[in-house]
Amino acid sequence: MDANLSATNATRAVYHQVVEDAREASGARWVQLTGLEAGTRQVRQVAWSSLDLPPLRAALARALAAVPDFLPHRVTFPATINPAVERIYLAGEVVSAPLVQVAEGAVPATLVEVAGALGGMRHVLAVPLRWSGRVVGALNFHTPEPASASQGRMCAAFARQVALMLENKALAAATRRQVRELRVSRARITQAEDDLRRSIAEELHGQIQSRLLVGWIRLGEAEAAWESSPGRARALVSEVRGDLAELRERDVRQVSHRLHPAAIAVGLLPALRSLADRFHPSLEVELRVPDATLAADHPTGGRIPRDVRLTAYRVVEEGLGNAVGHGRARHALVRVELVAGALDVSVRDDGQGPAGGPPGLGLTLIAARVDQHGGNWSLTGAAGQGCTLRAHLPLLPPVPSGREEEILGEVVFDPLWDEAPLSSDGTGRERQGMG
Ligand SMILES: Nc1ncnc2c1ncn2[C@@H]1O[C@H](COP(=O)(O)OP(=O)(O)OP(=O)(O)O)[C@@H](O)[C@H]1O
Ligand SMILES: [Mg+2]
Repeated sequence: MDANLSATNATRAVYHQVVEDAREASGARWVQLTGLEAGTRQVRQVAWSSLDLPPLRAALARALAAVPDFLPHRVTFPATINPAVERIYLAGEVVSAPLVQVAEGAVPATLVEVAGALGGMRHVLAVPLRWSGRVVGALNFHTPEPASASQGRMCAAFARQVALMLENKALAAATRRQVRELRVSRARITQAEDDLRRSIAEELHGQIQSRLLVGWIRLGEAEAAWESSPGRARALVSEVRGDLAELRERDVRQVSHRLHPAAIAVGLLPALRSLADRFHPSLEVELRVPDATLAADHPTGGRIPRDVRLTAYRVVEEGLGNAVGHGRARHALVRVELVAGALDVSVRDDGQGPAGGPPGLGLTLIAARVDQHGGNWSLTGAAGQGCTLRAHLPLLPPVPSGREEEILGEVVFDPLWDEAPLSSDGTGRERQGMG
């Protein structure tokens, strides 16, 4: 398999194609694709057209010889560097201006002069690229003369198509990433469920079976003593009854609860109450739920889906377990509240604060479960002030198109020349990315 066919190289090839097509369609001498980084508001070079045209290579080589420190593939500048650049990237305007104006402060003046004299690049028509209304970069058409109104319209239309195509590609990539992440968290949950089943099987096979066996032996002894010493037989039978009662009350109930908290079917609140009881008296659990949330938790006609209830339950279960086990807490406050289409759940304990242990299976699983709902979670706390485990669980499953802002925020243009700088004689390996 060709190692060059990586996602990054594929993306670079797309950027190259865009600038070459843009040059072809517009008749410009040179087309340049730039990206705007959302956070830093830095403008970066992404791709240049025409690298295979001898006059351009010669002009570039001359320019680079004149300014030896200049690395064209590393050009970055703030979007506020001059008024023209500000208009393109911050105001999102189409700008048609002499190159000197647009390049002022961003590129050495000598280079601009050489580009004008040898490459015929004296004017630039810069068209911002927008994704969901936000400027993410620009297509810059370089020409000897200012672009006419009809050329300007054509370039703007072309840039709109490019923006749409790149946005679709980015959304598709983000969706693929989400699917991958979802697979990973599913695998984690499956693994945890396997572990749980194994531990329950061990418990059934070990503890519970051996206690049943002891009961069976005791009943045999009772049977043998029935005639000869009825008093002892009665004592044995009553001992077995006590054992069976404990087995039923504690072990079997606990096992079935670990498999699935049955009370969830009735509502989250009843399930949490019975969970809180399990921690009594080592941990006092206070449950705080607003009336509106109580109503939404109603078993019939309630608005909280069953899987959200179950995840909320698991969060509280892990939070209380950790509060006792790691924080040595005596009191915990559990809050459950429905806010704007999501369920907020938190467990605040009065323990010692973060115990500083390595991340265990408990929180890893919480992360995976919360992730499945498209929610988020956190564990915060300070020494001597206890810990708070919080989860925010949207009631509806995540829909990729509803997260455009988040997706776009993650997308950055790949700098085309990062690995293949152009050498000053113009013979660099700059076309490698096109594979
Ligand atoms: N309420 C808490 N108080 C103090 N430390 C906590 C608390 N909750 C979590 N921690 C810290 O975070 C670590 C990770 O917790 P996590 O629940 O993932 O694992 P664990 O409880 O150690 O193991 P597991 O949950 O698999 O039985 C813990 O080892 C502990 O150091
Ligand atoms: Mg834990």
